Amino acid sequence: MVQIHELILRDAHQSMLATRLRTEDMLPIAEKLDEIGYFSMEVWGGATFDVPIRYLNQDPWERIRELKKAMPNTPMQMLERAMNIVAYWNFPDDIVKKFMYLAKKNGVDYFRIFDALNDLRNMKVPMKAAKEEGGHVQACLSYTISPVHTVDYYVKNFSQLEKMGADSLCIKDMAGMISPKRAYNIIKGVKDAGVKIPIDLHSHCTSGMTGMAYQSAVEAGVDVLDTAISPISGGTAAPPTESIVAALQGTKWDTGYDLEKLIEIRKYFLKIWDKYRHLHRFNALKVDPSVTLHQIPGGMLSNLIFQLEEQGAHGKYQEILDETARVRKELGYPPLVTPTSQVVGVQAVMNVLHGRYKVIPKETKDYCKGMYGRPPAEIDKKIMKKVLGSNWKDQVIDCRPADLLEPMWEKRKSELKSHDDVKITDENVMTYAIYPQVGLKFLQGKAQAEFTSDELPLPMDHKLTRGMVKQSFPEADDMYLETEPPEKRSGPAQIPTDFEVEVDGEPYEVKVTPQGGFLVAGAGDEADPPKDVEGGIKSNMQGTILKVKVNKGDKVKKGDVLATIEAMKMEQEINCEVDGEVKDVFVGEGDAVKSGDLLMQIL
Ligand code: CO
Repeated sequence: MVQIHELILRDAHQSMLATRLRTEDMLPIAEKLDEIGYFSMEVWGGATFDVPIRYLNQDPWERIRELKKAMPNTPMQMLERAMNIVAYWNFPDDIVKKFMYLAKKNGVDYFRIFDALNDLRNMKVPMKAAKEEGGHVQACLSYTISPVHTVDYYVKNFSQLEKMGADSLCIKDMAGMISPKRAYNIIKGVKDAGVKIPIDLHSHCTSGMTGMAYQSAVEAGVDVLDTAISPISGGTAAPPTESIVAALQGTKWDTGYDLEKLIEIRKYFLKIWDKYRHLHRFNALKVDPSVTLHQIPGGMLSNLIFQLEEQGAHGKYQEILDETARVRKELGYPPLVTPTSQVVGVQAVMNVLHGRYKVIPKETKDYCKGMYGRPPAEIDKKIMKKVLGSNWKDQVIDCRPADLLEPMWEKRKSELKSHDDVKITDENVMTYAIYPQVGLKFLQGKAQAEFTSDELPLPMDHKLTRGMVKQSFPEADDMYLETEPPEKRSGPAQIPTDFEVEVDGEPYEVKVTPQGGFLVAGAGDEADPPKDVEGGIKSNMQGTILKVKVNKGDKVKKGDVLATIEAMKMEQEINCEVDGEVKDVFVGEGDAVKSGDLLMQIL
């Protein structure tokens, strides 16, 4: 018998609906889902912590409590990024342990734990903590293809994870590129190696061969398959639950699930799909077999293309693909999953736009230092020198990255206590510890929901609907310009300036500056800065100013850091190229800038 891990309440809408499914749209179907008898139900983790506090004004803790109550018979599962928990950077052990305790207490039963680099050292603490709380640990390896990621590599590491106390195992094929043969060989290999615990295959339909890979996995003895109820399946999401259940009916692998009940659940999600139509993206539905060649997850690819267009570098698509593959090889073949997908992808974009390793984000430096963990293969020494300088050897760490971190729980707790508009509970402290800025805003009641369930489907003139229309009909913006007199264009609210792009299913907010006549989001009523001045320092990318490190009148030297900018969730330094004095600063922290914008004047 094969069992199903159901993704409809987490990965499915993260892949297809920018993780925006609201709790009130999950609860009405929970009772029916609970009757199926699933192996487990994915309800938490990934981006479902970040997105609710950022965009939905919903408490993720409240969601897990309510879902657990509504589905008492089904194990609730979360996707946990080892030392990154549900964020994109490392946390100290005390936070990770406390998180596991709180997650279990609030309703998580199964913990799917993975590390982007498959560095088992990063998985030890969360695995042990989850077990101590009585959780089921599903230890997971990120799937990728490279000279080091052989069948043997997976068999060896899965065997090791069983020894480390895992209750089950999972192949996490986030890019949806596993072939039938590889799926078969890995699962057969694991079984032949004498591994006793169940193994699960998680994949996405991106390559078009996932259905075949699932069949091969079944034949090799897979115990669990990851699927999603059909209206939010296929494309960059997982294979459809009903189809897989039907395909196995009457075979020795029959799930035994009630197909009629599943079809009733399908009807509910057809309505949900329609209700959230403003989030539909053609790209998410497309089959993309090229993933098997370049190995870049579909969402990451569309994001890279989008970024390139933003930076005014049209027509560099192929170059970016080639460069991504090259950077990945130079950096020791990391699997392209959050957060390593950003490190590789953004470095590739920078290389194409500014010359190879001329612009190096902080995250690339951290990666090379070993701050994400041990890369699967050795990093090219020439690249190490370019990224970290000639003393690179002194900067590389040998220990588990979190060993360098100080405990943080008590510190965060007392920080939060200084805000008397926040209720102090362990869950709130954790939300704040994981997302200090966004979390605090949410806890203070200052977060705003983009929309509530009652407002759906959103009207045509809503900015989110316009964003969707603009993607399918780029000419829509021009039409708007022509048909609306200037006085009716009442500012950014009606203009599709904010877009969602995705990197392996993680939504990213990107601000776009429309061509012609509009107010620019963030520019407000203030006077526009000059376009060009003598000694002008310009931004070489689109992003948000994180910090301005100099003031008017400061003396600066070549190489000094003038400001830092966040682009694609990465931190970049803007360095001074001359010796001189800061005559003027045209931007402030939090300002959105685009490539070519004047930042300051140095003479
Ligand atoms: Co996935």
